[in-house]
Amino acid sequence: MSLLAQRGYSIAALRRLAKAQLPRMLFDMVDGGAGDENTLRRNEAALAAIEFAPKMLAGAGRRDQSVELLGCKLPSPVLIGPTGLAGLLWPHAELAAARAAARFGTVYCTSHASTTTYEQIASETPAPKFAQVFLYKDRGLTAEFARRAQAAGYAGLMLTVDNQVMAGRDRDIANGMSFPLRWSARGALQFAVKPGWLWRMRETPSPTFVNYGERASLGAFGPLMNEQLDPDIGWRDVEWLRGLWRGPLILKGLLHPQEARRACETGVDAIVVSNHGGRQLDGAVASIDALPAMVDAVEGKMPVLVDGGFRRGVDVLKAIALGARAVMLGRPHLWGVAVSGEEGVFHVLDLFRREIDRAMALGGWDDLAKVGRDALWRKRLD
Ligand SMILES: Cc1cc2nc3c(=O)[nH]c(=O)nc-3n(C[C@H](O)[C@H](O)[C@H](O)COP(=O)(O)O)c2cc1C
Repeated sequence: MSLLAQRGYSIAALRRLAKAQLPRMLFDMVDGGAGDENTLRRNEAALAAIEFAPKMLAGAGRRDQSVELLGCKLPSPVLIGPTGLAGLLWPHAELAAARAAARFGTVYCTSHASTTTYEQIASETPAPKFAQVFLYKDRGLTAEFARRAQAAGYAGLMLTVDNQVMAGRDRDIANGMSFPLRWSARGALQFAVKPGWLWRMRETPSPTFVNYGERASLGAFGPLMNEQLDPDIGWRDVEWLRGLWRGPLILKGLLHPQEARRACETGVDAIVVSNHGGRQLDGAVASIDALPAMVDAVEGKMPVLVDGGFRRGVDVLKAIALGARAVMLGRPHLWGVAVSGEEGVFHVLDLFRREIDRAMALGGWDDLAKVGRDALWRKRLD
């Protein structure tokens, strides 16, 4: 067993390893959420509260956890969600994560705020990927990103719609983690006590949000987002992007069943039920609690993805049972990359795959198609 597998035996263990390695403000930037972090906590608590009704004598000798998603065959119902700023955790972290996803055979979503360009990630990794964008006040910038993603061969465009303004994240404020970074003596000390991280990052001493070119050095990013994020977005914008993008269009960040229904009518190909990992509207419903109504609302017309709080293979199976096609991983893959780069992310994906397989054996499900609502304890259905 590798040292990574031995020490990072679970996602919780990997999180602890990441905490030990990263400067405090970077660990908190990943780990934290908005406001009082109620939604952040609730994502995990709501998953933990769901119980299975396993069958012991159903015979699940050979198990298949592969799924089809928008023309891609995934070996396991997990993919890597879009996360900006990863390049602050490990040199070229997004490229490392995309390579791990390609090796595993799953989809990687490139964030608008990656520190490697959409183009470089696409050209250096073979498996299908999705490109994530926001709607900016300057819609031309959104269109430019979509055109670049199309030219680079992305298999899908993911429009995130729950980031209309910059969030208020208390841990970041307390740590002085803002863009531009404000260096305090305490902040500098947090970096100085993590020599391993400092040594690694000498390769990329000042990662920037390269998709924005000259527009967003690390310091200019916050002001640019403040200027460009747009709380006045609507379905006309989704229709507009639909007209621009040839291929699967995925809406990320929906929680209301009416909006799920509307997405079907607007030519969207998939939705991600998400509260941005509890990083935007604190008090928003836990993703897993919203999932059943969202699945019912789309009436099987499109795949429904979900993210937020998934830390175990059993969590993924609970989402599958409630009708999700697959689960997107946010923080788990960031902890993996922070601990061990590409190997760390591959380890995270493999850990989920192995935990899902073991749970399928224990629950008597040899195929994900058999993991439906009746795989859950009855009170869940009332
Ligand atoms: C550090 C960090 C950066 C993120 N950046 C983005 C982003 O650029 N675009 C986006 O759509 N979502 C972003 N997200 C949200 C994730 O895609 C995802 O919705 C969330 O992390 C899922 O919850 P989990 O972390 O509990 O798995 C980010 C999340 C984190 C933790």
